[in-house]
Amino acid sequence: MSRNAEALAAIRARAGAEPVRLGLILGSGLGHLAHAVEGVAIPYADLPGFPHVSVSGHNPHLHIGTLEGVRVAVFGAREHYYERGNPAAMRAALEVLADLGAESLLLTNAAGSMRPDIPPGDLMLLSDHINYSGLNPLIGEATDARFVPMTDAHDPALRTALLASAKAEGIDLRQGVYAWYSGPSFETPAEIRMLRTLGADAVGMSTVPEVILARFLGLKVAAISTITNMAAGMSDENISHEHTKAMAPLGAAKLERILRHFLRTLR
Ligand code: HPA
Repeated sequence: MSRNAEALAAIRARAGAEPVRLGLILGSGLGHLAHAVEGVAIPYADLPGFPHVSVSGHNPHLHIGTLEGVRVAVFGAREHYYERGNPAAMRAALEVLADLGAESLLLTNAAGSMRPDIPPGDLMLLSDHINYSGLNPLIGEATDARFVPMTDAHDPALRTALLASAKAEGIDLRQGVYAWYSGPSFETPAEIRMLRTLGADAVGMSTVPEVILARFLGLKVAAISTITNMAAGMSDENISHEHTKAMAPLGAAKLERILRHFLRTLR
């Protein structure tokens, strides 16, 4: 049995065979929502091919069950490229998500803002991204399926629906371009000036490889950043992982309201 078939069988044995509608990956400090899922929580360690997670503040469990009446698969944590140098670290997990029947994937992350009008505590829906890392999770994929179109990778219909949910909840959801920097060191002020010049609005260490993998797998995808800090050189505050974890909950409550509203529209 392939490792994905093994993971799928282990999930179905614990969570039942009913298909899931949607996957959700929770970023740094945003893990709370996973515990709201009515269903089972399966440790990644029990699922062959699932990521190895070494970042504090993440919950490495797959939560399968219902949230707002919709069957979902919530990933409490992701493996980042900077952990082991593997840009395809989330591939098996996302393949399993597609095999579970998901049509869409929502990604969340913590990010630094390069826009003074999008301060810490705000949420930014990704309208597009810049893969500044030069890495790609599909390098080594031997089929022509590797040539994934990335125009409208951030699904316009999903984005419209998320914006409508934010509006219905009275939450200001901004849109902007996210740049992927590999990490784990933060950026220098000079690098941030460069990224601003290149047209990026926020910077972070995740999400882009997952967007590429999701499109490769035929999943519709949208992503929301919780802004935890102004990017390097843009304010006097210290930038640190501790700060990221402390600030993420500021946006998390708003994010949860948007996601719950969006899920209710899927019922
Ligand atoms: N840079 C990169 N990743 C981040 C940041 C940042 O400023 N804040 C939260 N994640």
